Amino acid sequence: MSQPMVAFHVNGQVVSVQDQQGQTLLDVLRNTLHLKATRMGCGQGECGACRVMVDGHAVAACDTPLWSVNGKQVTTVEGLGSRAAPHALQTAFIEAQAMQCGFCTSGILMSAAALLQRHPQPSRQEIVQMLDGHLCRCGAHNRVVHAIQQAATQLTAT
Ligand code: FES
Ligand code: FES
Repeated sequence: MSQPMVAFHVNGQVVSVQDQQGQTLLDVLRNTLHLKATRMGCGQGECGACRVMVDGHAVAACDTPLWSVNGKQVTTVEGLGSRAAPHALQTAFIEAQAMQCGFCTSGILMSAAALLQRHPQPSRQEIVQMLDGHLCRCGAHNRVVHAIQQAATQLTAT
């Protein structure tokens, strides 16, 4: 029996992928679509490294069955901005040096982007709460909070 197809948008492009049993969104992003910026950390929905946006909500791609994104809009950090036109969050992270090894950064950027869509001017507490779902072994959280505040200021001023 042939495997069912799952069709969805990734960074604005339509993709159609065979749904193999047990396959997660993270498997397909990294191994089929070769979008490697979304990281595999714990693989259990605990560390936040694999967060992407699905219909505007930050979700753990390692814990998201492929079938569940059928018909949905998925955004990865590759779709957030580009070198030529970075998102305000990306610019703020660079200016604030809000990363060290960078392993956690893609996931944090996607959660931050989802937060700013819902709350364009989040309080420090809201940002800290959002970061609860993200482990950073380098301890960059203070600079991450600062960068997100900077990006929020810039986005609301434009
Ligand atoms: S790799 Fe998905 S939450 Fe850790
Ligand atoms: S910058 Fe290294 S894990 Fe966060």
